[in-house]
Amino acid sequence: VIFSDSNEASIRVAEEIAELIRKKQNQNRTCVLGLATGSSPIRVYEELVRMHKEEGLSFQNVVTFNLDEYLPMEKSNIQSYHYFMHEHLFNHIDIDPENVHIPDGTVPPEETVAYCLDYERKIKEYGGLDFQLLGIGRTGHIGFNEPGSHYNSGTRVITLDHITRVDAAPSFLGIANVPRKAITMGISTVRKAKRIILLGWGENKAEIIKKTIEGEISSQVPATYLQNHSNCTFILDTGAASEL
Ligand code: GLP
Repeated sequence: VIFSDSNEASIRVAEEIAELIRKKQNQNRTCVLGLATGSSPIRVYEELVRMHKEEGLSFQNVVTFNLDEYLPMEKSNIQSYHYFMHEHLFNHIDIDPENVHIPDGTVPPEETVAYCLDYERKIKEYGGLDFQLLGIGRTGHIGFNEPGSHYNSGTRVITLDHITRVDAAPSFLGIANVPRKAITMGISTVRKAKRIILLGWGENKAEIIKKTIEGEISSQVPATYLQNHSNCTFILDTGAASEL
């Protein structure tokens, strides 16, 4: 779906999320949301916060799982996805802190395998993700599933692509400070979500959006694995859609 402007598009996405939360509330059920970081979803979170404050949208039945986190990374670090999520969403809504799950960038190396399996198990325990919000990196990554990621991959430690580190460098004041690794949900974890929305804004995403939508399904562009998901929508602005 192509919108002339990302602001209007973000409001529509927030409305869909709010509708799902309310539907689950009426059924007395938990709403399990998979959430993303990066600049793309910021406006969606802003709108959800507004709906909470002005329209009484409650998040008390909401459980969240974030896609990824740098490794190593302290939660208090301003570059952490932990910090990002609290700053843009969790600090401003009525979600139970116990319902918030973000991969922990402080897990010691010898414990990461068990930690990732446990993250995967928790998602399953809640009955899987009802909704997954995604951005896309220039390498075609979703979460931090870089080129080479397997279709069947689960939550795991990944080595970040050079391009990803270059793109992250400004916020880390230089590439030398960008972590080399991350914990990310896998392709399979994401694909199991019942509903997926990927956000793409601006012309610098146009090339990867074209490859993702029109290219062959390939581990070299992990986002192409979304092509055969039964309920996935790409929400784009005219810039990101300009090469389609
Ligand atoms: C990071 C995140 C991704 C995100 C990507 C794009 O790499 N791990 O989940 O999609 O950035 O970021 P942006 O939305 O700022 O373009």
